Amino acid sequence: MCPTCKPDVCQPTGSAELAMLDVYMPMMKSAAIISAGRLGLFEALADGPLTADELAGRIASSQQGTTKLADFLVTLAYLEKQGEKFANAASTQRWFTHRGQVDYTSGLLWTHEAWPMMGELAEAVRSGNPTSTLWDAMLEKPRLGQLFSAYMAAFAADLGPDLLKYVPLTPTHRRLLDLGGSHGLHSIRFCQHYPQLSATIVDLPSALTATGPAIEAAQLSERISLSPGDLLEHDWGGNFDVVFYLSVAHNHTAEDNRQVFRRIAESLNPGGLLVIHEYIAEQPLDAFNAAFRLTLLYETGTQTHRHADYLDWLTAAGFSSISRVDLDPREKGSLILATC
Ligand SMILES: C[S@@+](CC[C@H](N)C(=O)[O-])C[C@H]1O[C@@H](n2cnc3c(N)ncnc32)[C@H](O)[C@@H]1O
Repeated sequence: MCPTCKPDVCQPTGSAELAMLDVYMPMMKSAAIISAGRLGLFEALADGPLTADELAGRIASSQQGTTKLADFLVTLAYLEKQGEKFANAASTQRWFTHRGQVDYTSGLLWTHEAWPMMGELAEAVRSGNPTSTLWDAMLEKPRLGQLFSAYMAAFAADLGPDLLKYVPLTPTHRRLLDLGGSHGLHSIRFCQHYPQLSATIVDLPSALTATGPAIEAAQLSERISLSPGDLLEHDWGGNFDVVFYLSVAHNHTAEDNRQVFRRIAESLNPGGLLVIHEYIAEQPLDAFNAAFRLTLLYETGTQTHRHADYLDWLTAAGFSSISRVDLDPREKGSLILATC
């Protein structure tokens, strides 16, 4: 696939000669890629091509099943056939193995868990609300929180270089508050890059189970602390120089965000910087944004917000010098920077 081509799922649909192909093929495509992730098939091919027999042995699966899955993945251009052997395509190697730029296998594992939740989409559409929220589900099944944080960590690995590039920190920025900081990777990256920086991470307890060990592994325990709690009620302290609100606003209503921005402004030192990362709702909605808004309907009952909403909340909270950076590719979302 060409490096700049959009995935076919983002192309207009309804063009299939047989209408049900539009439903059947995306379902089988998702199922095959997710199964490959669960079986470790892409990882098994990370070090080089394998025959069907060798591959089946590596993923502890039947030869027959492995061949059928691999044959389909070849037609999807996730794998390539090299003589009798199967190999990862370049983009598969890049996005779904430890050898690549970012390993999104955690996203495949998360999507496997999200799959049955999708079965309740019609009910969420009917009522306008989730049957139960993602956060409730995480309380019931703590494993979900770990999987979600691992998936967010893959996103963070991808977004990290953009943040370092566009967030203008100086030696005067010493205290960072990372609201909804989850896996902690953004705080870790910034503390590694800026030696004067220390950070406080606030998130729900279910999202923080792997964060302490990650901070320890980065040898930053003396500079990064965890403050578990619901940020809508939590006392996160004050005198911060920079606040991260990265992919968190879409989890909250407009009124909640308005309140949170006011509290952030109060907890920032004069000249302090707020960094927002978000998927901003533009009209007309593109395919990704529209799909994400539908996901949020059944996961959290919240939605992405318009740029005008952010400007309104930020100015009402006393922020100025508000700027926006649209990331490349656009599916990576946008940054909004504001000082108080
Ligand atoms: C989409 S993830 C983003 C994680 C991280 N900031 C990043 O950019 O990779 C949203 C995070 O916000 C957290 N979150 C959502 N609502 C919250 C609340 N009311 N209080 C604390 N954390 C919350 C979730 O637990 C999750 O870790």
